Amino acid sequence: MLLSPPLRAVAALLAVAAGPLPLVHAAQSAVSLSSSFSVPVLSSALSSAIPPVSSALSSAPAPVSSVAVSSSVPVLSSVLSSAPASVSFSSIASTAVPVSSSASIPISFSSTVSSVSTPISFSTPFSFSSGVSASSAASKTLSASSASIASISAPISASNASVSASTTAPPSASGSASASTTGSPSFNSGTGLETGPLTIPLSEYTFSSFPVASSTPIPKVFVPSTPANPPPVGSDEIPDFAQAWADAYEKAEAFTLGLSIPEKVTVVTGVGWENGRCVGNVAAVGEWPGLCLEDSPLGVRDTDFNTAFPAGITAASTFNRSLIRTRGIFMGQEFKGKGVNLALGPMMNMGRVAQGGRNWEGFGADPFLSGAAAYETVLGLQSAGIQATAKHFINNEQEYKRTQESSDVDDRTEHEIYVAPFLQAVRAGVASVMCSYNLVNDTYACENNRTLNQILKGELGFRGFVMSDWGAQHSTLSAVAGLDMSMPGDITLGSGTSWWGPNLTSFVDNATIPDSRLDDMVTRILASWYFLGQDEPNYPPVSFNAFNNNDPATNQHVDVQQDHFTVVREIGAAGTALLKNNGVLPLNKPKNIAIIGSDAADASMGPNGFADRGGDDGILAMGWGSGTANFPYLISPVNALQDRARQDGTDVNWWFLNFNTAGAQSAAFGFEAAIVFVNADSGEQYITVDGNAGDRNNLTLWYNADNLINAVAEVNNNTIVVVHSVGPSILEAWIENPNVTAVLWAGIAGQEAGNSIVDVLYGDFNPSGRLPYTIAKSPSDYPAQPTGGGGPNDIISVPYTEGLFIDYRHFDAQNITPRFEFGFGLSYTTFAYSNLRSSKITQTDRDSTQLEQAWAAGTPSPNVEGGSTALWLHRPAFEVLFDVKNTGDVAGGEIPQLYLHSPDTTEPPSLLRGFADVLLSPGETQTVRITLSRYDLSVWDIDAQGWRKPSGTFQISVGASSRDFRLSGTLPV
Ligand code: BGC
Repeated sequence: MLLSPPLRAVAALLAVAAGPLPLVHAAQSAVSLSSSFSVPVLSSALSSAIPPVSSALSSAPAPVSSVAVSSSVPVLSSVLSSAPASVSFSSIASTAVPVSSSASIPISFSSTVSSVSTPISFSTPFSFSSGVSASSAASKTLSASSASIASISAPISASNASVSASTTAPPSASGSASASTTGSPSFNSGTGLETGPLTIPLSEYTFSSFPVASSTPIPKVFVPSTPANPPPVGSDEIPDFAQAWADAYEKAEAFTLGLSIPEKVTVVTGVGWENGRCVGNVAAVGEWPGLCLEDSPLGVRDTDFNTAFPAGITAASTFNRSLIRTRGIFMGQEFKGKGVNLALGPMMNMGRVAQGGRNWEGFGADPFLSGAAAYETVLGLQSAGIQATAKHFINNEQEYKRTQESSDVDDRTEHEIYVAPFLQAVRAGVASVMCSYNLVNDTYACENNRTLNQILKGELGFRGFVMSDWGAQHSTLSAVAGLDMSMPGDITLGSGTSWWGPNLTSFVDNATIPDSRLDDMVTRILASWYFLGQDEPNYPPVSFNAFNNNDPATNQHVDVQQDHFTVVREIGAAGTALLKNNGVLPLNKPKNIAIIGSDAADASMGPNGFADRGGDDGILAMGWGSGTANFPYLISPVNALQDRARQDGTDVNWWFLNFNTAGAQSAAFGFEAAIVFVNADSGEQYITVDGNAGDRNNLTLWYNADNLINAVAEVNNNTIVVVHSVGPSILEAWIENPNVTAVLWAGIAGQEAGNSIVDVLYGDFNPSGRLPYTIAKSPSDYPAQPTGGGGPNDIISVPYTEGLFIDYRHFDAQNITPRFEFGFGLSYTTFAYSNLRSSKITQTDRDSTQLEQAWAAGTPSPNVEGGSTALWLHRPAFEVLFDVKNTGDVAGGEIPQLYLHSPDTTEPPSLLRGFADVLLSPGETQTVRITLSRYDLSVWDIDAQGWRKPSGTFQISVGASSRDFRLSGTLPV
């Protein structure tokens, strides 16, 4: 939830926000023409004002000799009057545009002319494909000054050759734009005006179908799936939701037909902050009951009798797909049980900076791991009948100035790192995607044609709908850039004004936004609802009030917990990584133990004493912000340890005052073991805890932890450290202290945190958790730091200069030795690896043979709608087999990991491309099978805009971490 309204900086950027290449699709077009003030409005008006005259072109290519601007541009007056200088087209050179070739029309913008002197009319479809003075798509800023003159030269491709050779009598120069510069727009309530640095491209996408690579279902390969019936965990089956989406679309289209424009607008516009019982609400329309949207990625927020699950980061640390799927299913059951339609999770940002405040909500710093966790979570949530929301799309990697930062990312990095988990969510049939607060390459993520229309709906073939993050919408025209739902509906929380609502109705009424776009928005939202079967007559009604838990009239206190605590406890244990063990763990009926540190204790104000968990004075089992849920109870380590002590006859002492190290020493002195519990917290930007405004100020552990550990180790030579941390922390102050005999990395474990850690400490659960990020020796070893600076009204630039080299890729490439590498985690037993072999998986169907052969020959995958999620690209294509043996004397789980090595030294040296979990009794051997798809082996080709097989040999390693390779070989590609 956003508490401070986003500041609207009027950075006078003249921007062209088109992506590298438009998708090849007959019905698509994109006018990516935009500027700081009037141009987006102009261009949108243009699109709808003038009908296509492609017939004229087909008979005789006509020169574009005149161009017309509609005189009925609805919001022009308000825009121009509020703009410091009237910006409008001043001249457009006449250029002949033959149908059969490409041509350029030089277009000039001038700030000195307040009316259109040479009006232009574009028919839709028309494409300005990223043409900024014929330079690359990367040059997006033409002018930093609102008063300067810039010109663009827009190449017009022959495939979109329906540029209007307008015979429409052009309105007189003064009668066009200037005619609408006076008078107040009656349809705007006064606050929803289109001002500010809009970079809205105009597009009219009609996405027809989810890609179907195989014309017929193929048993055990492409399986017709419904959300209720996903492929089992670990199977080779590739879910094919095409038919389920098609069925849902049919129902949605039928329902949409009967709606009026205001009714459609109701479907796409939230009712406004706190105007409903959920964190986001859509009002009922006719028989359709509306929607309840509720946080969070780890359980149902703002209610009671719910389970507080481990955070995403700890689910990811298990590297265990079954547990991640089960967590998703159980969360889905709870959301549904409370009457929620959409769960606002999973969160899949990438942990680009180790200090990122919300990293713990996500699945770590590797796109493959995050993608696998996203895939299982979405399949799980949706199999329980809940619409999942993949968030935050995209590049929302730091909390500092999250509404005023432009993440500047190159196209390959965007695809291979940041889009990757969203791609997997789309493959899992995710119903909804939440666009983020930040800008991406100078365009707000919620009005970003490139990321929403081209990448998400185009390349990924996403058929659900895009909702804004809370208050992340910045214009009415965001509709044409791909936004489908405004959340929570008002411009700033509680403002009572909306970019949509009546403003959207007006824009559709006067054809600024095409009817077809509104229909598409509504259809997507309704289709997602049908897709999840939420039209079932007995769908539970909302039974809680997110804004007033104590109101008896609106809280039925429905208990949805069942026995979900069991998987909470198990994930808490399975997500714990054993980082150091001098043979002291597991504990075995110790005579006595000292429990040291505030992180072992109950929170002083109760488990939910800090609103949205914005405080930390006991066991840390959740970060803070909207990504939280209320704890029904919270088992602290001291409670769980005492239960165990009672069983074992162990004496217990404790000391929770971290800053009183002398007291801690007395408490620990003479005990068989001293277990020191420490933590590091972070969260969402609207709450500041101990000076940390969301992001972490540093990577040190909190509350004097380093001194506390060393002080205890001074008096006790069996000091065991347990860390509950939201992300990487620097451990150098004590990690090599010989009296620190063991270290457990226990993550963000949820309501059973104490029980989970006791299970591991005593060996009831043999640790198998793995680090989902690198723990460095120094903060400066990481490839990227949070970007600071900027005045209150500035939009800062966050350049992603590290590119593909996030986390371990950077350490590997730069030869930096981390303290603990990505994928690292020990066990109480040992494992031996042997007998690596790999082979090509024989295809039994012939439908995608050509595509597969083309890929093998080095041709990038076709740049078509849904091209990146095409089934053939993701089917298992290669298989790697090897044996793992438990060579110790206790049962345990191992997480073998497969890394791919590029022969190209400019590429990241190792990439995670597979993992498995295997449970072995002492002496037992199992053959592990990991499959790879063609997508897994591909790189994103920025020229072709497709997935391409790199040349050279595919070297692979299999081992226990990103640096502990046990076997190596090649793939027969
Ligand atoms: C957060 C989202 C959350 C929403 C609703 C926003 O501030 O960024 O993750 O779902 O609020 O609470």
